[in-house]
Amino acid sequence: MSGFPAQRPRRLRRTEAIRRLVAQTTVEPRQLVLPMFVKEGATAPVPIASMPGVHQHDRDSLRKAAVEAVQAGVGGLMLFAVPSRKDAVGSGATDPDGVLNRAIRDVVAEVGDDTVVMADLCLDEFTDHGHCGVLDARGEVDNDATLARYADMALAQAEAGVHVVGPSGMMDGQVGVVRAALDGAGRSDVAVLAYSAKYASAFYGPFREAVESSLTGDRRSYQQDPANAREALREVALDVAEGADMVMVKPALGYLDVLRQVADAFSSAGVPVAAYQVSGEYSMISAAAANGWLDHDRAVLESLTAIRRAGADIVLTYWAVTAAGLLARQ
Ligand code: PBG
Repeated sequence: MSGFPAQRPRRLRRTEAIRRLVAQTTVEPRQLVLPMFVKEGATAPVPIASMPGVHQHDRDSLRKAAVEAVQAGVGGLMLFAVPSRKDAVGSGATDPDGVLNRAIRDVVAEVGDDTVVMADLCLDEFTDHGHCGVLDARGEVDNDATLARYADMALAQAEAGVHVVGPSGMMDGQVGVVRAALDGAGRSDVAVLAYSAKYASAFYGPFREAVESSLTGDRRSYQQDPANAREALREVALDVAEGADMVMVKPALGYLDVLRQVADAFSSAGVPVAAYQVSGEYSMISAAAANGWLDHDRAVLESLTAIRRAGADIVLTYWAVTAAGLLARQ
């Protein structure tokens, strides 16, 4: 017997064709959701300096970008808006003519049911203090008073035609309240994608520029501690019990272990699990690539593959259209 191994895994890596044949994980455009920003009063797209290639859209460019994403085969759109006026309770969020609700109407009018139109359901873009909820007399985020605002916001978004609402404020009971509000208004057709395991992450930094956040403190009293994995399962279980149709882990790359655990427990039980490749993940790769330190296209696809491999059924990514283009050329 020779000393050479009989098992030679390298045989299955020899050519591009055989690698393709045995590849376990796929990334498909339909699994990707594009987060989009729209800025009230903008007359042209405004570049976001910390997210090269991403813009705050004006009404027109938002519609055009939505069409482009649909044509690229992207699975859905997640809308965020930057209002020109903010106040303590985030009035713009529930105003039927507020920038986000108008954007939902615009996008639905443009692409209708050809894609899945989702909207962030949170007050942080609309409050002058920048928190995801309303504050109590002591200046702390008031959980239950915030829930009432979320219920109204869900109804405004449903009225505007959204397919999926994405409660992202990490208030206790938010999914139950949103579900009840929608059902009570005869809108049991609107789905809930719950930002269930959302961590208090430094990787949201560039997003704060993107939405012109007025936050001065942090969100650690409502978003999860990066140290905690088990707690994510508790949060997801609560959201599913409260009626979440899909759940999300956020950020993605630093939380692949959490994603795997959530996928094993819930994706396998039929609850689609999403992961959000957040602004800081986008900026890190973009900046390194701009310096010539990373191959941009390979890093983008590798990061998306890693997130899918860890169990994400759906990935929110600012590269959704870029990645669809790269995948089409593969
Ligand atoms: C809250 C919200 C945030 C993000 C999505 N929804 C900001 C936060 O929680 O501080 C961050 C997304 C990103 O960083 O790409 N409305």
